Amino acid sequence: MLPIVPIQQALLAWYGRQGRDLPWRHTRDPYAILVAEIMLQQTQVERVIPKYHAFLVAFPTFAALAAAPTEAVIRAWSGLGYNQRAVRLQAVARVVVAEHDGRMPATLAGLLALPGIGRYTAGALACFALGQAVATVDTNIRRVLVRVCIGELSAQAAACAKPAAALALAEAALPAEPDQAYAWNQALMDLGAMVCLARAPACDRCPLTAHCRTFAQLQARTLFPTGAELPALRVAEAPAGYATKPRVAKPSQPFKESNRYFRGRVVAALRAAPAGAALALDEIGPQLKPDYSAADADWLRTIVAGLARDGLAAWADAAQTRVTLPR
Ligand code: ADE
Repeated sequence: MLPIVPIQQALLAWYGRQGRDLPWRHTRDPYAILVAEIMLQQTQVERVIPKYHAFLVAFPTFAALAAAPTEAVIRAWSGLGYNQRAVRLQAVARVVVAEHDGRMPATLAGLLALPGIGRYTAGALACFALGQAVATVDTNIRRVLVRVCIGELSAQAAACAKPAAALALAEAALPAEPDQAYAWNQALMDLGAMVCLARAPACDRCPLTAHCRTFAQLQARTLFPTGAELPALRVAEAPAGYATKPRVAKPSQPFKESNRYFRGRVVAALRAAPAGAALALDEIGPQLKPDYSAADADWLRTIVAGLARDGLAAWADAAQTRVTLPR
């Protein structure tokens, strides 16, 4: 690992100048920060911002969210996608109210014990809401740390695909002063979102090129194709290797993807219905497929059954012909 202190200083100085002014950076309310982190897991910042404000108006506290009809929470999640997160968020609020007196647990272990809260979210909450010097790793943070500290062309880079290795790296990189952990983690996210992009990093705008192992590696490869040495180079532009990096296609999972698509469409149809109303399967079907017919009823029933199992829909009758959002 490189000496980390100059990297910390350069990144924190950049964050002070260029860091984004995001609404959840103006609060230490654990509830608001939980809402933001769950929304940000799979949705872009720009799309989250208006939804974050509206959600906090509709459900301002753990108690308000816990007491709300699930139907209302799923409606408020409209536009964010991955609706399961709305149900999971409410489940967390219900545990916080029922088991923790309405206050978020104050330790990493306590946070990890909440339903559906993994190491990333628990770390983000411990750091951003509780002010603890805790590392957290999302894709952006991992990419930045591996590029800068390890070097993407190094053999060890692949090892950081393992969550435990990436977390160990993030822990080693955390500033020694506990009160800098908040800015450090946010700064890593900003650098990853604005500069150190996955496929087209803007090295010409990066505050860390002088320290970045990958930058030096790619520079050396360009200038010394035989790779005999890695001179410490400072160059203002992104090395060619970054720009030409091919996009690696993920293996497609057609069933999973189309299932997810239709689940989303069913929830959208239920949201569009008046509050409390149930829809018959054969009212929903034609909204999913213009050529929906009776032959598709079993297919649709299976999709709805999956949604019901996940708390995103509820059968309105024992014969399973009519569906609502869960109350
Ligand atoms: N993505 C996840 N958490 C974030 C945060 N706190 N700020 C910006 N982007 C994020």
